[in-house]
Order: sequence, then C-alpha cells, then structure tokens
Amino acid sequence: MADDQLFQRFGKEFPQGTVLFREGEPGKEMYVVQHGRVHVSKNVGDVEKILATLGPGEFLGEMSILNNKPRSATATCADACKLLVIDAKTFEAMIRGNAEIAIRMIKKLSDRLAEANDQIQNLLFSDVSSRVVHYLATAAEKVPKGPTGHRLELRAPELAARVGVRTEQAEEVLGKLLKSKIVAVDPDGCLVADVSKLRHFLEFLQMKAQFGETT
Ligand code: CMP
Repeated sequence: MADDQLFQRFGKEFPQGTVLFREGEPGKEMYVVQHGRVHVSKNVGDVEKILATLGPGEFLGEMSILNNKPRSATATCADACKLLVIDAKTFEAMIRGNAEIAIRMIKKLSDRLAEANDQIQNLLFSDVSSRVVHYLATAAEKVPKGPTGHRLELRAPELAARVGVRTEQAEEVLGKLLKSKIVAVDPDGCLVADVSKLRHFLEFLQMKAQFGETT
C-alpha cells in the first residue's frame, strides 16, 4: 500500500509534546513514525532517561502487543508527528501476510538490541564523567565526519537525559571537555573534532577511578 493510502487508513497527527502512552499502561496499539520524532524514555527517581529517539520508518509500541505486557517505557512526541496507529489484530495480519515487513522489523529490533548493549556498557562506568564522555564518543562515531569533525545536535539537557544524569552534571563535564579543547560547544550542540581524544580522556578517567589522585 502506498504511503498516502496507509496514512488515510491508519494515520493520525499528534502535536509536539503529546504523550502517546506511559510506562506501565496496558497497550493495545503500535505506532509507525511517518514524520517527526518520538522519544522513548524511562523515569528513575527525579531523572528521565531517554532510551531512544525514533524517526521516520521506525516503529514503537510493538512489545506490549506481542508479549501482552504493560508498556515498557513512555513515548512522547518530540516534534509534531504523523504516525500510523495500528491495532494488535491488524499488526499480526500484516506480519503474517508480508515476510518483508517481518524481516525489516527483525533488523530494526537487532539495531535496538545493539543500542541497548551500548547503554549497558555505559551504565557499567561508575562515575558520571566517564558515562558522559563514553556517550559522546559512541554518538560521535555514529555520525559521519564533516570538514570540522563530528557534529552532534545535542545540548546539555538532552545529553543529560540520554545518559540519565542531571543537566548540571552534563554541563560540568561539557565544561571540562571545552576547557581541554576536546569538544567545541555552541548553542545548538557540540562538535567533536577528533573522537580519539575523547577516547583518551575516557582512559584517563578510568585510570583516575582505578588508582585515585596520587598528586
Ligand atoms: P512497548 O513496551 O509496547 O511500549 C514502549 C515501547 O518503547 C516498546 O514497546 C518499544 O517499542 C519501545 N522501546 C522500549 N525499549 C526500547 C529501547 N531500548 N530502544 C528503543 N525502543 C524501545
């Protein structure tokens, strides 16, 4: 079915900031993003951690439907969004009737698992600085290098939400990286000229954590 036909049948528009569903609620529908971005997040105490930001071509809300379990996370429209809203029965019929859809979903789920593994590795760092630096290095490696370096459209509050720390903590680490000229910060995000410098800084932080301050 063509995109506009699909939208006519299943499409809905949602303003920016709409909470599509919250963690713990029962789930009856899944969503396919056609336009805009959706944040998937979890709250731990007073800190929100964004698990993923899903854009056009990606889907969410399939887990509850497939496993008959409550929503595993909260979904919020980061922009004004156009989404396909598909009920459980239609979703199952689509997968059964089209191997191509099933394969695409398996590929996306594999990417999600790889991403979750990166997040587990990040959480194994015991200090906030290492977690922020590791996140920046991993994120920078995923975007192609431009003439001046790897550009990340990520300001301190979003960086904090990705890592699951407070904004002031992310700002403090960014301040250190700026001072050491490892990262350049501007109002829209930051620029990593050389990822290996971030990796070296991470090694330094690990040594410091292991051996402590000796001077
Ligand atoms: P469901 O559990 O129904 O509701 C929350 C949805 O967020 C979930 O389905 C997935 O579609 C999505 N989701 C959960 N965890 C992750 C993750 N780590 N990365 C990307 N998407 C996720």
